[in-house]
Amino acid sequence: MSAEIESTEARTQKLEGLGAKRKRVEDVRFTQGKGNYVDDLKFPGMVFGDFVRSPYGHARVKSINTEAALKLPGVKAVLTAADLKPLKLDFMPTLAGDVQAVLAGDKVLFQGQEVAFVVAEDRYIAADAVDLVEVEYEGLTAQVDPNHAMDVGAPGLRDDLQGKTSGAHGPRKHDNHIFTWEVGDAEGTDRALKQADVVAKELIVYQRVHPCPLETCGCVASMDKVDGHLTVWGTFQAPHAVRTVASLISGIPEHKIRIISPDIGGGFGNKVGVYPGYICSIVASIVLGVPVKWVEDRMENLQSTAFARDYHMTGEISATKDGRITALRCNMIADHGAFDACADPTKYPAGFFSICTGSYDIPVAHVVVDGVYTNKAPGGVAYRCSFRVTEASYFIERMVDILARKLNMDPAEIRRKNLIRKEQFPYHSALGWEYDSGDYHTALDKALKAVDYADLREEQKRNREAFARGETRKLMGIGISFFTEIVGAGPIKNCDILGLGMFDSCEIRVHPTGSAIARLGTISQGQGHATTFAQILASEIGIPAANITVEEGDTDTAPYGLGTYGSRSTPVAGAATAMAGRKIRAKAQMIAAYLLEVHDDDLEWDVDRFRVKGVPERQKTMTEIAFAAYNKVPPGMEPGLEAVSYYDPPNMTYPFGAYVCVVDIDVDTGVTEIRRFYALDDCGTRINPTIIEGQVHGGLTEALGIAMGQEMAYDELGNLKNASLLDYFLPTAVETPVWETDYTTTPSPHHPIGAKGVGESPNVGGVSAISNAVNDAFAHLGLTHTQMPHDHWRVWKTAERLNLTTV
Ligand code: CDP
Repeated sequence: MSAEIESTEARTQKLEGLGAKRKRVEDVRFTQGKGNYVDDLKFPGMVFGDFVRSPYGHARVKSINTEAALKLPGVKAVLTAADLKPLKLDFMPTLAGDVQAVLAGDKVLFQGQEVAFVVAEDRYIAADAVDLVEVEYEGLTAQVDPNHAMDVGAPGLRDDLQGKTSGAHGPRKHDNHIFTWEVGDAEGTDRALKQADVVAKELIVYQRVHPCPLETCGCVASMDKVDGHLTVWGTFQAPHAVRTVASLISGIPEHKIRIISPDIGGGFGNKVGVYPGYICSIVASIVLGVPVKWVEDRMENLQSTAFARDYHMTGEISATKDGRITALRCNMIADHGAFDACADPTKYPAGFFSICTGSYDIPVAHVVVDGVYTNKAPGGVAYRCSFRVTEASYFIERMVDILARKLNMDPAEIRRKNLIRKEQFPYHSALGWEYDSGDYHTALDKALKAVDYADLREEQKRNREAFARGETRKLMGIGISFFTEIVGAGPIKNCDILGLGMFDSCEIRVHPTGSAIARLGTISQGQGHATTFAQILASEIGIPAANITVEEGDTDTAPYGLGTYGSRSTPVAGAATAMAGRKIRAKAQMIAAYLLEVHDDDLEWDVDRFRVKGVPERQKTMTEIAFAAYNKVPPGMEPGLEAVSYYDPPNMTYPFGAYVCVVDIDVDTGVTEIRRFYALDDCGTRINPTIIEGQVHGGLTEALGIAMGQEMAYDELGNLKNASLLDYFLPTAVETPVWETDYTTTPSPHHPIGAKGVGESPNVGGVSAISNAVNDAFAHLGLTHTQMPHDHWRVWKTAERLNLTTV
């Protein structure tokens, strides 16, 4: 008996299925410099594209002269809006139902906007020719502050929208207005706020930041004029959606378009949308009949591809005297830049911001969001978060801390008092979401115990006394965040992008010798899908993960899917993988029953084989069954062992976490050191703990970047003041503290393996924890709230405002 148990364990281990700390299979090529990124691609006859970009934030384009550029030896073509207009390609649809200029016509609307596309024999000639294109501009006043975009008399920025009283998301009340989105109970919230013992009100700004993947955006477009096939290799987070959009825009039938995402060096939402570079490369390849490569440089990436956040949120939160939260209100201005190119599901122009009641049982809430146009680059993507969840989480986590101060309550205590209780799940939030599962109090208690919270607060008390006596120049801050994410869009009934339902897919083929290939509609950009999706399958179909190839990113081979962003891969494609695996196992069971001459129901699954119930020595392994699938299937059954699943999730998944951050701030320099950062994540069933840890480390490092330094800063003319990594903070190992990770496990009840997403959680929770810690350091001195980013200069300014500095 014990030998049998041991062998079961040994077989389970050999599979490296769910829960195994399997090493990332991708790293074999990445660590040897064998990755295959867009810029590594070389094709015979390939030419290179480069953009002439606007130096102005807002200007009329009076003329464009391409003569000198065209005369430069090696230049093949120069495209302008005038060339694209007859093809109806001067504007392209955005993911948000707006249109965006592919190349600027009469007007430029943001600095770095694409004005002309130069194509040349090599990249350097293209760059030289860019300088030879003469564009005459007439500068216009730039609209930079979103809070004044809808002022009476503020000139409308978009010529194409002047006087239009409705847009993709309903009525517009100003030429610079995009939409109003409202959710919740306005009257009920108003009443509760008026009747409350205590109300806290604050303007919380989540600054404009940039996702900043290490690899910038780019593509190679290749039109085969003989058979009419277009192939585009690119840094695409959603290759199938790009194929459909490319077909709709170009008129090329979809079956003649092949989109391939090779290795991608980080996406973080930056590579979801369609950029003018893709369209211009395709047009140039159609015109020239050769492959055209376009890869932007770092400054172009920062200046012109999708930004994130830029939400200006005025919050009101109320409570009883003893700290029970009674209502939440948020009125918000969302700066979308010059074109509405937000990547949100169609029905949610402000994404899932309505998750802003967070992890708390708040009886009534109301949110109004106004999206506005300004003279900044378009975007508004889910930078390492599900659609606008980071903004929502930051908002509620700051508001709860501010309320706690007003009530003179400990931030941990107010959270404990208001967290949704375990028995309330599935929990229906005041703003309409159904949280699938959670055990918040266990997570909070575990986190507070792990960091010795009571001792930390004691230490902080001593620190404050010592500071008051002048014995130290450092202040200690403790920040807690308890976040709830909402990841895994669909379901289709709620979520689509450009009418494409947000399901995802997996197709599996088991080969005769018992190994397999799985293809998915998602695309890894560093998350390790080839490692973890094989693990899901290993547990489902009893084939070792090492014997399963996972392939993504080629629309000619992968089943249709909506791609990877917003931690949707595990909740949606991961579920499809498990479901396709179950179809394989169901067929395998019928084949095993036939081979063993028993009824299907007489068999039971045992790790990697079927056994006859009560006669366990009568068995068929998956390897035997796979071979039989190709030569000995039951009469009437098709041979082969393949399955496909298109999975429409019934709900999203709601990962959560409890983070604690401790900072020490030198008030004379503003230098803020993260002394300790503890992150407890609950992402349901954990597929690969090592990969999860890596995801959390990466997400926290990006959170550090945002909380402590990142901001896309524009001057009053619309010039981006920090369009290089010398000026835009990207944290390195030098700035990064040791991240302590921990977990609880509360499976999702509706996901086939109980998994929730995790990739975005650390960014969502990390930003609030750091910001809460910085604010907490000054809270006893009367500071209610200071805006991010908390770079040393701004922290010093806060200390100065509070009369703490000596220098
Ligand atoms: O959509 P994206 O891949 O960005 O995010 P995700 O679904 O949260 O997955 C990120 C990585 O963590 C993938 O390799 C997942 O399979 C892995 N993961 C895991 O091992 N266990 C979970 N419960 C969730 C994700």
